[in-house]
Amino acid sequence: MCGIVGYTGNKKAKDILISGLKNLEYRGYDSAGICLQENNELLIFKDKGRIKNLITIIDGLSPNAISGIGHTRWATHGEPNQINSHPHTDCKNSIAIVHNGIIENYTEIKKFLESKGHIFKSETDSEVISHLIEEFYEGDFKEAFLNMLKIIEGAYAILAMDKNTPNTIIGARKGSPLILGIGNNENFLVSDPSAIVGYTANVVYLDDGEVVIIKNNEFEILDPVSKKSINKKVEHISWSLKEISKDGYPDFMLKEIFEQQQTIKNAFRGRISIENYDVKLGGLKLTPKDIQDIQRVFFISCGTSWHAGIYAKYVMEDLSRIISEHEYASEFRYRNPLIKEDDIFFFISQSGETADTLAALKLVKQLNGRVYGITNVVGSSIAREAGQGVYTHAGPEIGVASTKAFTSQLVVTLLIALYFGKFRKTVPQDKLIKIIEDLNKLPDIVENFLKKNIEILKSISFKYKDISNALYLGRGLNFPIALEGALKLKEISYIHAEGYPAAEMKHGPIALIDKNFPVFVIATRELYEKVISNIEEVKARGAKVVAIANEGDKKITKLADDVIFVPELEYHVQPIINVIPLQLIAYYIASFKGKDVDKPRNLAKSVTVE
Ligand code: F6R
Repeated sequence: MCGIVGYTGNKKAKDILISGLKNLEYRGYDSAGICLQENNELLIFKDKGRIKNLITIIDGLSPNAISGIGHTRWATHGEPNQINSHPHTDCKNSIAIVHNGIIENYTEIKKFLESKGHIFKSETDSEVISHLIEEFYEGDFKEAFLNMLKIIEGAYAILAMDKNTPNTIIGARKGSPLILGIGNNENFLVSDPSAIVGYTANVVYLDDGEVVIIKNNEFEILDPVSKKSINKKVEHISWSLKEISKDGYPDFMLKEIFEQQQTIKNAFRGRISIENYDVKLGGLKLTPKDIQDIQRVFFISCGTSWHAGIYAKYVMEDLSRIISEHEYASEFRYRNPLIKEDDIFFFISQSGETADTLAALKLVKQLNGRVYGITNVVGSSIAREAGQGVYTHAGPEIGVASTKAFTSQLVVTLLIALYFGKFRKTVPQDKLIKIIEDLNKLPDIVENFLKKNIEILKSISFKYKDISNALYLGRGLNFPIALEGALKLKEISYIHAEGYPAAEMKHGPIALIDKNFPVFVIATRELYEKVISNIEEVKARGAKVVAIANEGDKKITKLADDVIFVPELEYHVQPIINVIPLQLIAYYIASFKGKDVDKPRNLAKSVTVE
């Protein structure tokens, strides 16, 4: 949600900022802009819409600036137009800032600054930052910046430049991510590592409340109150250019769907042993006694990760026999939750930056609860704030609609349930063996499925591309898969879709069904006969039915209008493959409709505001 990038060094800042912004564009694409410092002037270029609009403006210009800041916006305050685009400046165009987050007390600050004669150009909350720095400026940029920080409230990652303090960028973070990239005689400040891949792999993850100053080949991290330097560990990121490129695919989403044959393996690699049917999870730091004593497990998350949380609850209860709950982070954090000593809390997040999930985690910590991250982005705020947990290792996910991260979350939560079940002796050996064997086979099965089924998935998608509504049904572990299938369709093709537990459909949604309201049903073996009855019920109302069924199922061919066959797997493992055809149907329908599947309207990857 908004991407920011800052650079000081010895190369042309314009090129580095644009390349960084292109890689950060998935965080927001309402507008883009850069500020370059040249001959003691701040040159600002910005425009609404995609980065390509910004590139058109600066194409042909060749500023020699070796420092600058850039921003790609997901609008919160003020419509996405040119004026509201970042960077924002003060009255004299001496200070420029970019901001990711929300300044909650901006109305009071703006009133105060206006009473002092400041003239605002935009409707954004962010512009108060540059004016506040101007207000406090008495020749010392750093002092003015630190004074500004004392006033603002809310969530932020901020970068600021002063035309009178050459080649210096000051940054600060609270609640929104900011990473320092340390290069050779150059330094970067970015929202996430994708902006610096190819330039440097050495990073420092800034923590909330820290300030950072970069100047060509120097950097300093400091505590804004004591003004003392803080020594932080330099870490190494492993993202590669191939991982953050489309690598020959037309879209990141399609690439990421196909990567699942590998990412599923990455999620269990080194964690299961096929020789002795064992599960090991190093990052949880729980003794067998701790696991025995757990009374309740919570899975807290948002969006697609929340769907993974439902699956996690079901498998955890089934395999470890511990009472489990799944919660929307945004609800949990405001409902005065009851937390007990023997509860444990998992926070599931691809980005590790989702504001509500992070806030819920902090709340549980404050209440002395035990917290664990299930995150994909290494070094992300949730991973670091939790301090322990399990990484999903799906690699960078750039398509805004989550795909490979979801299947990795399913694998990891299944492993956690098995791990707890192992110590609690609640998983029968034959079940354990079957789950581990099928998990181990799954990457090859996914690969074969993708090889064999693309044409049929395309033709089904083409057939249904003009629908206006769709219902997705599934039961048991396939209920969250139905939710996820519906979410994928609506977010990238803008077709209204709802996911329901198949039987629950009779309690209302069935009223919607007619011949123009197709129903996508997950009808693999779990609760098969019940689901078949549900299919009969919607067929009786004229619905067209698209079924995901197990290979060899003859009954379904007669009943459904279209069928996609998936291999039969142990029923805890089955949903992990079941979701893949639904991801592809959403992808192809959206593509046939000409939608930008990687950057759906109004959405952004990584929701860092609540
Ligand atoms: C949907 C999607 C979102 C995210 C949600 C949580 O395709 O990607 O619903 O799942 O914003 O994001 P993370 O997992 O990063 O916390």
